[in-house]
Amino acid sequence: MFTTADFIPNPYTSTIENGNFEWSAPSNIALVKYWGKKDNQIPANPSVSFTLNNCKTITKLAFSKKGNNENFSFDLLFEGKPKEDFKPKIQKFLERVEVYLPFLKEYHFTIDTQNTFPHSSGIASSASGMAALAINFMSLEKLLNPEMTDEYFYQKASFLARLGSGSACRSVKGKVVVWGNQANIQESSDLFGVEFPYTIHENFKNYQDTILLVDKGEKQVSSTVGHDLMHNHPYAERRFAQAHENLDQLIKIFESGNLEEFIKVVESEALTLHAMMMTSMPYFILMKPNTLQIINAIWKFRQETQIPVCFTLDAGANVHVLYPENVSNKVLQFIQEELVVFCQNGQYICDKIGEGALLVDN
Ligand code: DP6
Repeated sequence: MFTTADFIPNPYTSTIENGNFEWSAPSNIALVKYWGKKDNQIPANPSVSFTLNNCKTITKLAFSKKGNNENFSFDLLFEGKPKEDFKPKIQKFLERVEVYLPFLKEYHFTIDTQNTFPHSSGIASSASGMAALAINFMSLEKLLNPEMTDEYFYQKASFLARLGSGSACRSVKGKVVVWGNQANIQESSDLFGVEFPYTIHENFKNYQDTILLVDKGEKQVSSTVGHDLMHNHPYAERRFAQAHENLDQLIKIFESGNLEEFIKVVESEALTLHAMMMTSMPYFILMKPNTLQIINAIWKFRQETQIPVCFTLDAGANVHVLYPENVSNKVLQFIQEELVVFCQNGQYICDKIGEGALLVDN
């Protein structure tokens, strides 16, 4: 079993003065949700997600050796322009990962980042953003330790991304990613995401995710606060146990391709996530009236057509519409005719399962 000590490097064998990398990393959509955590970004329950393909963060990391090694030194650009309000989050990330990347104070960094999805669309950019940054740092560490294996490279990238934002550890590598110890999933770990290691039925190939942008406003309650409210939550223990049960169900469902069962688990997980919010103290609601309109319209359409389309939700009002590739024409027509009216400015994003982070420029 891995421990955090496995990610503290031995003294480096190489040196490098300056250079740059550019990586893209995708967002992901959880099927079994991470909600609640222990110290040091250890999840209270395991989760599993589909990696997305189109919703990505692209981050360029330029580095140059500097004179003194006392402080972190970095500039942060968003779409080419300085972005001061993102800096504290990055500063905190650097502090958290310094013990695992002991070279960080030796360089000045320029971090230049952009998203392929609209800014403040309510799509969390923390998963893709932290994954893209973590993997760039791993590219630099690999220059300092050229013997590093690919396996370690991706594992540690996920480990570091987790310390930036939990769900980010599922945005590094693989189409279907599990994060958190689960007895029936070999190699699964609380410390990093692993590619789902068992059979996945053809039904899930190129599975589609159309993201309906219901509300692009700032969330009233951040994920961090929401996770915290799972401490002393009256239903927490049962919920954590249920996540394990649902993940076990999904192992069978991925193998059999049983979409009816898939829908039950996925929709129940989404509603349970929001039920946890509604039953915490203080309680809160992140769904909007149009979120419910969309859910009801999906249920009616599914009932009438028997087309296996379902929804899931993140910690917000937007709805992810999930469906197999072979019904995409019909579902897209349904979305355009019946669901777009519930989207803010009629906006939605078509996405599907993707592979993970990609090196854009070396
Ligand atoms: C509802 O990963 O954003 O999207 O670890 O505090 O950064 P932090 O939380 P974050 O939580 C996301 C929770 C979720 C469900 C999920 O993606 O599993």
